[in-house]
Amino acid sequence: MKIITSLDIPYVPQVEKITRAMSQGQGEGSDFLGWLSYPRDVFEDVLQRESEYGRSLREYRHVFCLGIGGSYLGAKAAISALRPRDQRVKFYGNSLSASELKEGLDLYDPRKDHVVVISKSGTTMETAIALRLFLHKALEESEAIIKTGFTAITDEFQGSLHDFALEHEIPSFVVPQDMGGRYSVLSPVGRIPMEAAGIDTVALIRGARNMMEDIEASPAVDYALLRHHLRQRGKMTEIFATFEPRLRDFGAWWQQLFGESEGKGEGAILPVPLTYSTDLHSMGQWVQEGPRNIFETVLTLEGPGTELKIPVLSLEDGLKALEGRSLDHINEVAKEGTLAAHRDGGLPVLELVAAPLREEVMGELFYFFQYACAVSAYLQGVNPFDQPGVEAYKSAMRERL
Ligand code: PA5
Repeated sequence: MKIITSLDIPYVPQVEKITRAMSQGQGEGSDFLGWLSYPRDVFEDVLQRESEYGRSLREYRHVFCLGIGGSYLGAKAAISALRPRDQRVKFYGNSLSASELKEGLDLYDPRKDHVVVISKSGTTMETAIALRLFLHKALEESEAIIKTGFTAITDEFQGSLHDFALEHEIPSFVVPQDMGGRYSVLSPVGRIPMEAAGIDTVALIRGARNMMEDIEASPAVDYALLRHHLRQRGKMTEIFATFEPRLRDFGAWWQQLFGESEGKGEGAILPVPLTYSTDLHSMGQWVQEGPRNIFETVLTLEGPGTELKIPVLSLEDGLKALEGRSLDHINEVAKEGTLAAHRDGGLPVLELVAAPLREEVMGELFYFFQYACAVSAYLQGVNPFDQPGVEAYKSAMRERL
């Protein structure tokens, strides 16, 4: 991963204290630092066994993954990026929309499909309602289906999902106790659904492990430092742009990671993921000429990408000059033009450049942003690993229900 920017990387002495404390398992929220050494610490046989299990789910017509927030965004991001045409793995239980759930239930055939329910706490209402509905449909078929047609990914020792899985002898995988939802993508939470979609998660972990080596001297720290520097200068909105629609769901994962980790107090940067050039036709005006309290982080992938050329045709559509040129090249030029225009419009721009997408690179990306986010939140002076504000909507909702 490379970082390209005309901005100077600021020197903030505090950062060394932060990275040292993290590596020593200290600092606020340090009970949730399990993700930090996970790629190295996860046992090879556990990794293989879990991969094999996830692979075995490829036999099913559909795999319905029920979960919300950190319990589904990472897997969805990886599947959209690496297996964009996958139709097998479906995500439900991430809203309370009856029409959405009904659509999933109509598609669900307990004899042909499998349900993976993911909830660390085991008490999240969106997930629990979805589980109950899928279970109800499965039970209409036969009670025996529960044992073979469901998988649980949850806490090792407690929670209603844990108890339910134990009681019904449902195959279960563990969300490590020292890992919060949004830092759990490399655990079974992300890996089981990814394997079901055909992703090699052993390679994913290999990539994360590579990124882990020397992370303290990596551009992840520079990215955190630049965010901090910009925040201190009043740049309170970060546009996270890609020029690749396959990374749209990665943007959603990034948004949750930073939104929940840093959304505490006035110093919080608003994380806004956009996909260019699509969103230049909706948000481009705002980015170019709206309030100048924003900055832009652009995640790009090194080529070569997909080979697709503008065909030669006798058509008066204004594209004569582009005939024979590859679309990837045009997208690259569009990126250069867009970033130049944004810089001229007064936007600080950082470019993060990753290798062409494959499993290892995806693992690197997940680890990179998790680390950068934790350091950035500590620089902001907040605990990166809690989300006390999320409780407010939950209890207000429960009271009314
Ligand atoms: O990052 C987090 O901790 C949250 O987004 C959780 O992942 C989300 O609320 C789902 O929680 P649970 O897995 O307990 O159902």
